[in-house]
Amino acid sequence: MTHKKSREIRLKNRPAGLPRETDFELAEVELAETGEGEILVQNIYMSVDPYMRGRMNDRKSYTPPFQLGKPMDGGCVGRVIESKNDLFQVGDYVSGMLGWREYYVSAGPGVLKIDPAIAPAQSYLGTLGMPGLTAYAGLLHIGKPKEGETVFVSAASGAVGSVVCQIAKLKGCRVVGSAGSDEKVAWLLNEAGVDAAFNYKTVGDVIAAVGEHCPKGIDVYFENVGGVHLEAALEHMNTHGRIVMCGMISMYNATEPVPGPTNLAYIIGKQLTMQGFIVTDHFDKLQQFYSDMAKWVAEGRIKWKETVVDGIENAPKAFTGLFKGENFGKMVVKIGPDAGD
Ligand SMILES: NC(=O)c1ccc[n+]([C@@H]2O[C@H](COP(=O)([O-])OP(=O)(O)OC[C@H]3O[C@@H](n4cnc5c(N)ncnc54)[C@H](OP(=O)(O)O)[C@@H]3O)[C@@H](O)[C@H]2O)c1
Repeated sequence: MTHKKSREIRLKNRPAGLPRETDFELAEVELAETGEGEILVQNIYMSVDPYMRGRMNDRKSYTPPFQLGKPMDGGCVGRVIESKNDLFQVGDYVSGMLGWREYYVSAGPGVLKIDPAIAPAQSYLGTLGMPGLTAYAGLLHIGKPKEGETVFVSAASGAVGSVVCQIAKLKGCRVVGSAGSDEKVAWLLNEAGVDAAFNYKTVGDVIAAVGEHCPKGIDVYFENVGGVHLEAALEHMNTHGRIVMCGMISMYNATEPVPGPTNLAYIIGKQLTMQGFIVTDHFDKLQQFYSDMAKWVAEGRIKWKETVVDGIENAPKAFTGLFKGENFGKMVVKIGPDAGD
């Protein structure tokens, strides 16, 4: 007999510009009893990710929009607390896509067992999860970096960017990162081991800064931000360079058309490849990703930062913090107790 109460965050209004806390509401529901073949999961962490902003608009995209008055969803990790499914035991750590709520009942599809012995459970929302796979697939399969090449990464200390930087170093590249605070720049240089990094908020001329830090030009640009970062990268791309179009976070809250780079014609003259990708198209690489990352993490060759916000009621604030650079590395929200808490 379950009948647990579960709190969840619902989308109340479709935001205009940067979402406000009043665009969300906290609600409480009674959970149905766990049926035959089902499991009950108590979430420990939920993820907030920039792509969720697009799902708050009523616009057709690669993921359907969130519904008003309904709980939102997204990455989460938790523990199985009841099981009537032979594939799961009580106590198993799992990742799933039913975040923004404290508990959920599932028949199993889309719920993956995770191993917290490899890395802490919440890192399956970051370095060992969707952002890590995005970095891995985007850099290696689209950017195709070669030893000795220069890789430039924007939002470089973030969940995706920090993994891109370190895999590019593992592949013998010269890596240059851009980030929005001196503390993030210091971490990139001292912990992530990039060759050069700068604070785009204080550097003045971003185009000149990229030129200074990439004296041999850029072979691979990993695009997370858009705007002046893309303009700067185009300016300094080498012939036959590759631009991995991962995200353009500087535009996600724009209410007016954003002025684009004025130098897109470089794509022609420099014979560049600029390719967009969506991580869900690369799930076939998940096993290879886990095996490479588990090895690199065990060897201490991949490091990461996390910002943990406490309490499901603070999830909307954590989400909007992504657009103000309030996260250092992966932003997660702790919404339930872990073993040992
Ligand atoms: N294609 C895919 O399948 C896929 C999958 C996952 C993520 N993505 C994209 O990858 C990018 C990074 O995502 P993430 O999860 O790793 O986020 P994140 O980097 O951990 O967090 C977002 C960071 O973006 C920076 N930022 C926010 N607003 C900005 C602005 N106006 N100008 C410049 N920088 C800004 C901030 O860092 P600073 O302090 O450094 O400014 C902030 O901390 C996003 O564009 C996201 O949409 C794409």
